[in-house]
Amino acid sequence: MVGIKEIDNNYQLGIQCIAMQDHRNNHGTIFGGWLMSQLDLAGSIICRTLLQQDQEIVTVSVSNLVFEKPIYAGDVIQCWVAIEKVGKSSITTKIQTNAVRKGTQIVDQKVAHGKFIYVCVKDGKPDPIMRKQ
Ligand SMILES: CC(C)(COP(=O)(O)OP(=O)(O)OC[C@H]1O[C@@H](n2cnc3c(N)ncnc32)[C@H](O)[C@@H]1OP(=O)(O)O)[C@@H](O)C(=O)NCCC(=O)NCCS
Repeated sequence: MVGIKEIDNNYQLGIQCIAMQDHRNNHGTIFGGWLMSQLDLAGSIICRTLLQQDQEIVTVSVSNLVFEKPIYAGDVIQCWVAIEKVGKSSITTKIQTNAVRKGTQIVDQKVAHGKFIYVCVKDGKPDPIMRKQ
């Protein structure tokens, strides 16, 4: 897969998709809010792989989110997720996004990155993590 050789082994691919024209901001580059939601989704997808099927998770915290380089319509974005810590009910992740530039094999590393924390919940309250057997 394009770009995987540049990623350390702790990272798993959570989402890969094409940034579309509809995702652009007023300046013509990709809107940060859309990109942030892709990172958030990617993290939750990887966290879910740790959990038993009936456990629900929500995002409780996003920090150190940095948009380092612009993304353009037609770029493929790849959101890579590393589990940093598993707590009693929370999972802390580091998420890195790379962009494969439209029509090329050029991978721009770390166009965005941040720390996302998820919490298992049941009836709206923290629920101890039950890991998949
Ligand atoms: C997630 C939620 C249930 C946590 O409730 P809470 O009363 O803060 O829970 P607690 O204080 O018992 O903390 C539970 C865990 O979350 C972690 N946590 C809570 N607030 C946190 C914060 N601001 N930053 C980092 N971790 C946090 C705690 O460290 C704890 O981790 P641990 O169990 O692994 O030790 C509550 O904050 C909530 O419902 N938030 C809204 C979530 C949401 O709607 N997200 C957007 C949509 S996905």
